[in-house]
Amino acid sequence: MSASERTQWKSRLGFVLAASGSAIGLGNIVFFGANAYKFGGGAFYVPYLVALFVVGIPMMILEFGIGHRSRVAFPQTLGRMAGRAGEFVGWWALFNAVIITMYYVTILGWVVGMLIGALGPLWEPASPMPNYAMETLPNPQGYFFDTLSSWTVVGFVALVWLANVGICINGARSIESTVKFFVPAMWIMMLALIVRGLTLDGGFDGVMYLFNPDFSAMSGLDVWRGAFSQIFFSLSLGFGVLSVYASYLPKKSDTTSMGLQTALMNCSFEYIAGFAIFSMLFAFAIVPKASTLAMSFFVLPQGIAQLPGGAVTFGVLFFGLLLVAGLSSSVSLVEGLAAAAIDKFRVKRGIVLALLFSVGVLGSMVFALPIVIDSSLAGNGTLGLTLLDLFDHKAFGYGLLLVGLAECIVVGWIFGAQRLIDHVNRHTKFTLGTGYAHLIKFIIPLTITALLVLGFLHECGTLGDPDGDVSYPYGQGLVDPEAIGSTGWSWVADAVPIVWIAFTILGALVMTWLPAARRDDPGDDDA
Ligand code: PHE
Repeated sequence: MSASERTQWKSRLGFVLAASGSAIGLGNIVFFGANAYKFGGGAFYVPYLVALFVVGIPMMILEFGIGHRSRVAFPQTLGRMAGRAGEFVGWWALFNAVIITMYYVTILGWVVGMLIGALGPLWEPASPMPNYAMETLPNPQGYFFDTLSSWTVVGFVALVWLANVGICINGARSIESTVKFFVPAMWIMMLALIVRGLTLDGGFDGVMYLFNPDFSAMSGLDVWRGAFSQIFFSLSLGFGVLSVYASYLPKKSDTTSMGLQTALMNCSFEYIAGFAIFSMLFAFAIVPKASTLAMSFFVLPQGIAQLPGGAVTFGVLFFGLLLVAGLSSSVSLVEGLAAAAIDKFRVKRGIVLALLFSVGVLGSMVFALPIVIDSSLAGNGTLGLTLLDLFDHKAFGYGLLLVGLAECIVVGWIFGAQRLIDHVNRHTKFTLGTGYAHLIKFIIPLTITALLVLGFLHECGTLGDPDGDVSYPYGQGLVDPEAIGSTGWSWVADAVPIVWIAFTILGALVMTWLPAARRDDPGDDDA
């Protein structure tokens, strides 16, 4: 595919819908609700808003700006700014993204299972668990674990991968046609859930919980780390996918305004998603046990099961919402990967997508496999520990922030923050000044470094109880990862960080080292 064949967004709205479709996903519904609950409701909002304005919006403008300027995929964009080292950072981000895409799709496979269950079986009283210490589990848990432990989930995962590559088949064009339906649909579904939640007796108290900050909770490091990770993940930052989306924009585009719009749309969606979740938790007096995935997969469904107006209707709405929001996010990850391969090797999109599909289905299957099926854990109402928990537990908290840090160094110090400012200021209503350069060069890198170092010390136990209440956006999904120690499988847990580092670094080195096919594109838009 030559540069001239690169597809473009048909309209500015199409781009903003696609970017906000990427941003709004499982992070906004599944993880935000669980994090906000864990960190004391309103207490979470102050660090969250600080993270949004200090890091989130500026980084979004950066990713939009660099992609728009270079009009190539992420590794190539950074490569033009900082040579081989830049390209390496870009590939490294994408290899991180590969891991996250795989388990993101795994979770979407489970969502498909739950969506089917919501048509009936999910709401039946108990599900038999013949192979586990507990012979029956109340639904929706029982149904969830049944689905997870059956082969049907592999089919669901393959289906979600197929949907992803299908949506990416014509690049920006097919993505745009899809998000035009998906993004409005997710707002409508979310609004319906909010109206239902708020009109429940006691539902409004849940919303008040979000507005009543417990300021004492805010002094902890974890709440800040949780908020910054949440913002990075939720805004799709540190994966290079937004920069690829921006590379499909026409030359005269106001990327700064579009960055602001996307960030604000994402965060308002996230904020009101909290209304739907907390109104139900409070109306039905359900107390989640701080497990991120469990909150959406079986705690909240306990509330949905009791909803006047029909568990089926609202269950389908809820899991339908997760699927639509998750798919419009995962396609951006797939597109980010596909575009990088296409731009480097000039191979046909169909071939790249077929390859991603095959590797992706395998990877997502592996992430779905429970590596520990321990009857004592099963008796606890859990199936086992998946690789997903482990990778997330170790890798996720560091990967995104490290990429964000490297991006700031490449753009702020090697390329030059002022050159980026000059570029984005060319067509904007919001001109950026030297304050923005200070953010990119000093404030954001220092903040990220502080979070990484403090987080690391915390996990090593130097700053107190390492297992205390660290935030794992995905982790603790099924079993507390620490429980692995008692099962004889702890070597797997120990191997995970090594595998993660080896995979991302070696993968990125190889991709950087491989020679690129000859370029026929016009180069950076610096004119
Ligand atoms: N922002 C998405 C969410 O909140 C996740 C995502 C991250 C998607 C990075 C694409 C790239 O679920």
